[in-house]
Amino acid sequence: MNVAILGFGTVGSGVYDVLTLNREIITKRTGTELNIKYVLDLREFPGQPVEKVLVHDYNIILNDDDVDIVVEVMGGLKPAYEFTKQALLKGKSVCTSNKELVAKHGAELIEIAREKNCNYLFEASVGGGIPIIRQFIRSITADDIEEINGILNGTTNYMMTRMREEGLAFDEVLKEAQANGYAERNPAADIEGHDACRKIAILTSLAYGKQVDSEDIYTEGITKISDVDVAYASRLKRGIKLLGSSKSENGKVYAMVAPKMVKKDNPLYMVNGVFNAIMIKGNMLDEVMCYGKGAGKLPTASAVVSDVIDVAKHPGTNIPIIWDREKIELGNIEELSHAFFVRVKTDDLIAVQNSLPVDVLIDDVAEGEAGILTKSMKECEFNSAIKNISVLSMIRCEA
Ligand code: HSE
Repeated sequence: MNVAILGFGTVGSGVYDVLTLNREIITKRTGTELNIKYVLDLREFPGQPVEKVLVHDYNIILNDDDVDIVVEVMGGLKPAYEFTKQALLKGKSVCTSNKELVAKHGAELIEIAREKNCNYLFEASVGGGIPIIRQFIRSITADDIEEINGILNGTTNYMMTRMREEGLAFDEVLKEAQANGYAERNPAADIEGHDACRKIAILTSLAYGKQVDSEDIYTEGITKISDVDVAYASRLKRGIKLLGSSKSENGKVYAMVAPKMVKKDNPLYMVNGVFNAIMIKGNMLDEVMCYGKGAGKLPTASAVVSDVIDVAKHPGTNIPIIWDREKIELGNIEELSHAFFVRVKTDDLIAVQNSLPVDVLIDDVAEGEAGILTKSMKECEFNSAIKNISVLSMIRCEA
C-alpha cells in the first residue's frame, strides 16, 4: 500500500522514521508492505533521503490512484481541511494528528469517510502516543461515560513539573519544551489551554457520539500560576495540574479546562513531565486510566502509524466511529461543585473567613497574605461569595 505524508515537520518526519525503522515488524503485522510514495512539504531537504519522494504540489498525491493512505500531519485548518476532504472524497483514507481539525470538522470528515467506504482516523490527536481514541471507539463501548479527567497537554505538564522540581522560570521551561518538540508552533495554544480544550472536545464528542464545540468549553491556562501557588499546593499535599474535564450529570454534559489542585492519592498527581494521563469513569466499568507520552516526535508518530496499520489491515472497510454533527449544548459550569483555593491579603482575611466555608487556612507561606482551601461548593456560590473581596489568585481543587 502506498502512503503519502503531508508535512515533514516534527510529526511528519517521525512518521517517516517509524515506517522506515520498523518496516519489518510493521509489514509482518500488516500483512502488506507500506511504501512511502510521497512526502509533501513546501521546503527542500537537500541530501536527505526524503528528497527522493518529496513533492510540492498536493495534486500529484490526490490524482495518483495508487496512493491509498494520506497522513495529514500539517496541523492547522488551512489547507489541511481542504486536503483531507479532497482525499476522502477520492476514497483515500486519512490518518492524522491534527487535533484542531478533528475537533472542528471531525464529525463531517468521519461522515465523508463512511460514505466513501474509507477511514478518517485520529489516534494521535489526543494524548500523543497513548492509545486513547481506540479506547473510546472499540473498548469502552458497554458503558455510559460519567466523567473524563485528563492531563492532555504535554508542554504545560512538562513546564509545571520542571518549575516545581527545579525552581526554573516559566520562559526557560517553555523554551525547553519547544526544543524537545512538545510545544505547538504558537505556544499560546499550550499555555492558554486551547490545545487541551480541543482534546477534551474530541474525547467528549466520542464519549457521547455528538459534536462538542471547543469554543463552548470554558478554558483557563497556566499563565496565572505562580511559584507561590505551587508552594501552597505542596503544603496542602496537592499538585497543580492543567485538567481537561467533562462529566455527565442530571442529563447534562459539562466540560472545562482549568488548572486544578489534585490530591496526592489521585493517580493524576504522579503524572509528571511530558506524560499525559486520562481517567475515564464508566457506569459499569468504574475508573480506567491511560498513561503515556503526550507529545514528542516518535510517540506521536507511533500513534499515527498505528492508524495507518489499522487502515492497511482492513482494506475497503470503514471502521465505524460514532460522532454525529448534531451539537451538544453544554451545561453551565457555574453549576459544578469543587473546593476552591484562594490567596488573600491578610487585611482581607476576616471578610473572606466570613464569606467562604473554610476548610484549611495557611498563613505562613508568604508574607502579608494567607491561603484558604474551601469546602466543596458550587462555582456560582463561590463567585457570589467573593464578589466584594479581592483575591490574589484562585485555583479549583479536588474536593
Ligand atoms: N503541544 C501538544 C502538547 C502536542 O504539548 O501536548 C501534542 O498534542
